[in-house]
Amino acid sequence: MTAINWAALNAAAKAASEQAYAPYSHFPVGVAVQASSGKIYHGCNVENASYGGTVCAERNAIAAAVVAGERKFVALLVYTPQSKLTPPCGICRQVIAEFFMPEAPVASSNHLGQQQSWTLQQLLPDAFTPTYLAASNKINKDS
Ligand code: THU
Repeated sequence: MTAINWAALNAAAKAASEQAYAPYSHFPVGVAVQASSGKIYHGCNVENASYGGTVCAERNAIAAAVVAGERKFVALLVYTPQSKLTPPCGICRQVIAEFFMPEAPVASSNHLGQQQSWTLQQLLPDAFTPTYLAASNKINKDS
């Protein structure tokens, strides 16, 4: 099993948060993910004047890793310079569930050096995952 490099995840997530494009919320977020290859990827939130076009740091970090060829991940860390530790939003929990095992740690840290950790299973129990599509009866109304 790959050891999780929390110090590197923290450093990468903090650096990513410093690149956040958050002119509307003023809520910068940085995320780092560790792939099963051992490599670490990061992303920040990128907001949009339409508001709805905003993409969270979690999804940008995962997308950066996927385009580099990664498909499996062992840990995710969200960094926010907030005294209240920030967990991933609901949409991001679903995206995390696409690529992480239910037991994988999903952590949050802040500028005060505080850290809290959950498992993905705790954040999104009974997640809808690719396994449901693989097991599908492939119902086709056209045939
Ligand atoms: N945000 C993230 O990037 N990740 C989270 O876990 C929580 C929310 C962003 C979206 C938006 O740019 C800002 O934080 C406020 O919601």
